Amino acid sequence: MSEHPFLGGPRDWWRQAVVYQMYPRSFADANADGIGDLRGIIAKVDYLASLSIDAVWLSPFYPSELADGGYDVADYRDVDPRIGTLAEFDELVEKLHARQIRLFVDIVPNHSSDQHVWFQEALKSPPGSRERARYIFRDGRGANGELPPSDLSSHFGPEGWTRTPDGQWYMHLFTKEQPDFDWSNREVHDEFLKTLKFWSDRGVDGFRIDVAHALVKQLEPLPTRSSYSLDVMKDDGTDSLFDRDEVHEIYKEWRQLFNQYDPPRVAVAEAWVHPHRRPAYATTDGLGQAFNFDLLTSAWDAEAFQSVIDANLDFANQTGSSTTWVMSNHDVIRHATRLVIPSDLGGVTFDAENHWYVNHRLDGDLDLEKGLARAKAATLLMLALPGSSYLYQGEELGLPDVTDIPSDQMQDPQWFRGEGKFKSRDGCRVPLPWKATGSSFGFGDGGSHLPQPTWYSKFAVEVQDGNPGSTLELYRAALALRKRLISGESLSWRSSESGTLWFEREGGWSCFTNFTDHQVSLPQGEVLLTTTEISGSKVPANSTVWLRLP
Ligand code: NOJ
Repeated sequence: MSEHPFLGGPRDWWRQAVVYQMYPRSFADANADGIGDLRGIIAKVDYLASLSIDAVWLSPFYPSELADGGYDVADYRDVDPRIGTLAEFDELVEKLHARQIRLFVDIVPNHSSDQHVWFQEALKSPPGSRERARYIFRDGRGANGELPPSDLSSHFGPEGWTRTPDGQWYMHLFTKEQPDFDWSNREVHDEFLKTLKFWSDRGVDGFRIDVAHALVKQLEPLPTRSSYSLDVMKDDGTDSLFDRDEVHEIYKEWRQLFNQYDPPRVAVAEAWVHPHRRPAYATTDGLGQAFNFDLLTSAWDAEAFQSVIDANLDFANQTGSSTTWVMSNHDVIRHATRLVIPSDLGGVTFDAENHWYVNHRLDGDLDLEKGLARAKAATLLMLALPGSSYLYQGEELGLPDVTDIPSDQMQDPQWFRGEGKFKSRDGCRVPLPWKATGSSFGFGDGGSHLPQPTWYSKFAVEVQDGNPGSTLELYRAALALRKRLISGESLSWRSSESGTLWFEREGGWSCFTNFTDHQVSLPQGEVLLTTTEISGSKVPANSTVWLRLP
């Protein structure tokens, strides 16, 4: 196995790691084509090191027609030429490792792109052929097979089956450009093991597994579905599409591969399952860790946060894993905006968030100052929790979501194909502002593939760098301090007044959050870090403070 001096670190480095998610097309563009690239990331490795993160997770950078932001992969073992080359990928791994930063890549095993060589071969091959057996092809219903094989919608729109020129249909849970693999076929298993080994051998330290709960499906009888809400998913391992018990056999085999490396490669499952089913994805003989998205659907409310925290620490204990925390990613409205969407208009569940986006995003009446205060307070709380935290590029700048991208410049298939029911995810994928002025605010010299608003200028890295009151410097201070403070993984609650949460961590430090819109009393202790300046003995509204206990 390939070795790098840095890879010899502790085997459990991931348990309380901070992972910075990058949407590569929107991070930094070195070759002036308006699309972020690996050279752009390489040029920013010092910036990443200045954040004291433990790892970077790259959303897909593989060749792709971009039918779904790169989650339609045409070749799992290459780099999209618009993003770079494998040689540049190797250089990035080396540069990150030299700065003690590990690297996760995204694996998309439920579906490929329709441009993938396997799917192209399948289209050219007859029904019943070995080539078609890698995907889910079926004859249609009706006298001439003109009706889809079952009543199945997709996540992004009405149809879950698409007809091919020879009359057969193929199944896709996402866009029609993302045909689902048939995981009952051994060839599919072998292909993914080859891909995981390919990247592990190149020095990749971990994998984020896309829709990890969908791989195994019941195909007899064929699944039907018109809604993808969790409410309709069975929670006993027998659902026809998701979270079937057999899926874990796949991950056990992957774990055997991961454990051949030193330290073992790590993996985190993106599994939108009933919370009590999540631990099964995080077992030590499986993927090892699973995303916990509960804070993404949590109201800005002390009790709601506390119950999410307790439940997830409990789940982690059940498997010997550590939990994960996420406030923002490439699929949701950035938390500086989300946390002030009025609860009667949305803001908590995804359905409500979609409703707000579709009907109210242009109203322009959100209190974004309060949103930023809450976002910083939520992040500092998250960073004080046991487990690992996932940050999303740009949140360290306090960026709000861009909610007014003109429809003709949007790229997200969820928006175009969602029959007006779903939000666009483009608003959190707008290229980052590095400079206050100039072409694309320093993203690159060739424009930006999604339009940047003029107000991006005031959030630019250049404006915040070295400015003690900035969000960027708060993140830097918090992440550096967290590295020094974090030891064991236990948390104990301290009693505090209603609307606040206070917990203690091993080593005599604590985190206090004021969720209310008014100031409250500061608990006793030495203030180590605060999201809002404190004067006297009061904690301002919507603020978090880290305190050394007396
Ligand atoms: C989850 C990814 O996070 C999302 O961006 C993508 O659209 C779907 N999986 C399909 O791959």
